[in-house]
Amino acid sequence: MTKQDLADLSFDDYDEVINPRPDTCDFDRVVESGLSRRGFLGGMVAFGSGAMAMGSTILTGSPASAAARFGFTPIGIDTSNDVTVPVGYNWHVVAKWGQPLFSDVADVSANHLGTGASQARAFGDNTDGMDVFTIGDKQVLAVNNEYIQNRVLLGNRAKGMPETDDDALKVKTAHGVSIAEIAETDGQWAVVLDSPFNRRIHMDTPIQIAGPAAGHDLLKTSADATGTNALGTWNNCGNGRTPWGTYLTCEENFNGYFGSTQSDLETPRDFKRYGISLQSRYGLEQFDPRFDLSQTLNEPYRHGYVVEIDPLNPDSTPVKRTALGRFKHENAELVIANDGRVVVYMGDDERGEFMYKFVSDQQYGEGSDTSTLLDTGALFAAKFNDDGTGKWLELTPQTTGMASQAEICVLSRQAGSAVGATTMDRPEWVAVNPNKAEVYCCLTNNRNRGIKPNAGGDPTPVGGPNPREANNFGQIVRLRPTTGDHTDTGFNWDLYVMAGNPVVGEGLNKGSANINAGNMFNSPDGMRFDSRGMMWIQTDGNDSNEGEFAGMGNNQMLMGDPATGEIVRFLTGPSGSEVTGLTWSADRRTAFVGIQHPGGDFPDRAGMPRSAVIAVKRDDGGVIG
Ligand code: FEO
Ligand code: CA
Ligand code: CA
Repeated sequence: MTKQDLADLSFDDYDEVINPRPDTCDFDRVVESGLSRRGFLGGMVAFGSGAMAMGSTILTGSPASAAARFGFTPIGIDTSNDVTVPVGYNWHVVAKWGQPLFSDVADVSANHLGTGASQARAFGDNTDGMDVFTIGDKQVLAVNNEYIQNRVLLGNRAKGMPETDDDALKVKTAHGVSIAEIAETDGQWAVVLDSPFNRRIHMDTPIQIAGPAAGHDLLKTSADATGTNALGTWNNCGNGRTPWGTYLTCEENFNGYFGSTQSDLETPRDFKRYGISLQSRYGLEQFDPRFDLSQTLNEPYRHGYVVEIDPLNPDSTPVKRTALGRFKHENAELVIANDGRVVVYMGDDERGEFMYKFVSDQQYGEGSDTSTLLDTGALFAAKFNDDGTGKWLELTPQTTGMASQAEICVLSRQAGSAVGATTMDRPEWVAVNPNKAEVYCCLTNNRNRGIKPNAGGDPTPVGGPNPREANNFGQIVRLRPTTGDHTDTGFNWDLYVMAGNPVVGEGLNKGSANINAGNMFNSPDGMRFDSRGMMWIQTDGNDSNEGEFAGMGNNQMLMGDPATGEIVRFLTGPSGSEVTGLTWSADRRTAFVGIQHPGGDFPDRAGMPRSAVIAVKRDDGGVIG
């Protein structure tokens, strides 16, 4: 494949191409896992009857009663290149790729795609996780810019690939995080140009490395002999926020940015597990030795972490918190346990990878020193049993056989494999119910389930929370800590929903009973609870509206009631897009929603698409979350 072809692939398809899995699982290891088909079916019966009870609510509920419970009349599917919201709601664009954060740079257009320097002072590409922070009467939006639409960003290059040093700089400055003060005037939100809070963090920004892996030999490079000062964060996917006012940005598919100008370079064995290969997506190794493995072999060990940012201090240095492990981080859902310790739930989004949890050693108290709170603690990976129980397995030198906690924090996937954690159907966002000790995780899909092992050779048997072979639709698993405290190592689990198509699907592909012709979707991905304890679900899946996806339309945002299992559709995104990232204004009268990689010419109708953050409001100005 050419570089250009690689850049056009989704990140998960890119991993399959550069790192193909064997076609069959090692059946001895499948048997060893103790999974029996009988146990799996037993679990499903229990799930099915509970889901049936949920389903009856939907079948008997009138549209009017649904509107009363959810605050809106659910909408149908849409296949247009536009956003749709319920009657009584409206939306507008707040920020979009290439939009200036400072008045000394010009907006982009189809004829002027900006430079590396202008992009560094403008909103980044492909919006993802985000949060709003308040200081006095000001509101500051921090937004991840996950990756780039290279054929748009570099639409002036025949192949949509960097050809000059400045092209490479533009690729780097379009990634990362955009921080901008926003303000509402006459019901319309806009970026406050030149606000002292406006800031871009990108692939060249200095970032401190802290926690157990800081200073480890694996993290040392010729440019940083200390192994504590990295440059850049990229592929920033989901996010988290802390009660002490910081923003957590999560490095996901960091691997695809590394390549080698030496085609026969030998690389460490552990690179394969993380999909680090000699073939990059965007060819940055041609322009910057940091991305050239033949020059900087250790650079990949410095990425794949959760990064903590103080969004209200533009002079602060972001910090990579290695104690939270190194993997393809989706988001970081942080909650304070009963005794004040900090618990962070995390997913590793790749086929057959694990769910993780961090529990801090120190306790959080209002006004306490939080500068090292996320640097010491225990890291766990989740093991699910078919009987509906599960355990968080601590990753230590003793349990994994690895040399040190530092090594565990760098090679966390290998640590999870060593303790026998459960291979999952691509864990995306994790969200904690604010009203109850419940943890939800979107398992977006996994076409390799029951067919191929994960990148480490661990089997991916059908069963437990991953009950469908070649899972095209995804599901949401729910964990309840055994005693109701988030530091518990035991939990009980069930499936909140199994997406599917009840009209054309067969068997489990019909989905669970809370899926019907009016709310069906595939590939749940983003997820957040609002202040009322309602669960918002965003999708990133197949939007062909054909075959087994017929009746699902474009990607969308739905609302789920955690108590009843009822799910209704709130918003549909433009064709080609993924709906990702959700947060609220301080008064909760605006929901900010991310529209990533739209197709066509959304939203400007001016010759090219631009990823955008939109504001969704009620016509009557009421609270929406
Ligand atoms: Fe960036 Fe797994 O989504
Ligand atoms: Ca995602
Ligand atoms: Ca996804």
